[in-house]
Amino acid sequence: MLASHFVELTVLDLIPFGRESTPQTFALHLSPPPWKNYTPGQFVMLRPASWGSEFPWARPFSISRAGEIDLVCFIQVAGRGTARLAGLKAGDAVHVWGPLGNGFVVEADSPTLLLAGGVGIAPFIGYAQKHPKPRNVSMLFGHRAPLDCYPVDSMNERIELNSMQENEPADLDRFIAALRARMEEYAGKSGLALACGPLAFLRTVQQLAAQTGLRTQLSLESRMACGVGACLGCVATTTDAWPVPGKTHWPVQTCNHGPVFWANHVLLD
Ligand SMILES: Cc1cc2nc3c(=O)[nH]c(=O)nc-3n(C[C@H](O)[C@H](O)[C@H](O)COP(=O)(O)OP(=O)(O)OC[C@H]3O[C@@H](n4cnc5c(N)ncnc54)[C@H](O)[C@@H]3O)c2cc1C
Ligand code: FES
Repeated sequence: MLASHFVELTVLDLIPFGRESTPQTFALHLSPPPWKNYTPGQFVMLRPASWGSEFPWARPFSISRAGEIDLVCFIQVAGRGTARLAGLKAGDAVHVWGPLGNGFVVEADSPTLLLAGGVGIAPFIGYAQKHPKPRNVSMLFGHRAPLDCYPVDSMNERIELNSMQENEPADLDRFIAALRARMEEYAGKSGLALACGPLAFLRTVQQLAAQTGLRTQLSLESRMACGVGACLGCVATTTDAWPVPGKTHWPVQTCNHGPVFWANHVLLD
């Protein structure tokens, strides 16, 4: 695992997506971190320096890009903390801890299916950019907000991307049918699936992985406070398939044993 750093970075820009008068998704560009290397699926804990005691904990976000130019996270407003992040201005200071956790497996020659639900697209931005053979990678993306609320343009250039918007209940059935069809297809060619999104979406992917036999990894977006394994606020329970003897049916911290797990290794409560 790569060493993590605690640093203060500066907001370079905050770019909103979509056409709503109050955008709910945006790309936060921070000054370049001292680390350039990371594995897509890893995350950072962000806490603006201006936050006081009303926000004691940092918030976790996937790394969408990190390098010489900037550190980028794609953020959706979900509550009080993310609403405050949406008000950041160029020049503001943000405390950043990372890179944290593990990342998704990269198998250059395996047909790889990315499965994203909503803001779960965030770690796949870097995955598509860094993959050595992007022609082996495709994505199925389910979303509720209009497509222009998400950073799909950079991905369209690198990988095949199919998106489905959920406007009415029947759309969810169509999306699940598409998930099943794509996972059966990739199981048939001994491929790999990587999924990130809301819990209900991950549960469906986990069930389909068991039914199709497709090797699948899930990135869990558990609630987190410390981000480094100390507070036990983010535990998941392991299954019989967990590879460490004596630790099956055992609580493991998502922040430092995950957030990426093989689908058959954890229970999704
Ligand atoms: C490893 C990891 C990577 C993540 N990557 C991203 C990302 O790239 N972009 C992004 O927008 N979000 C991401 N999230 C989710 C993000 O951390 C939460 O949306 C955020 O912490 C909510 O903070 P808040 O103060 O706005 O919400 P709160 O006011 O604390 O809660 C508001 C609502 O959001 C829900 N919520 C809180 N934490 C989470 C969570 N971790 N996951 C899902 N729902 C939550 C609460 O149940 C509540 O309904 C990630 C989470 C994890 C664990
Ligand atoms: S967030 Fe504290 S143990 Fe994971």
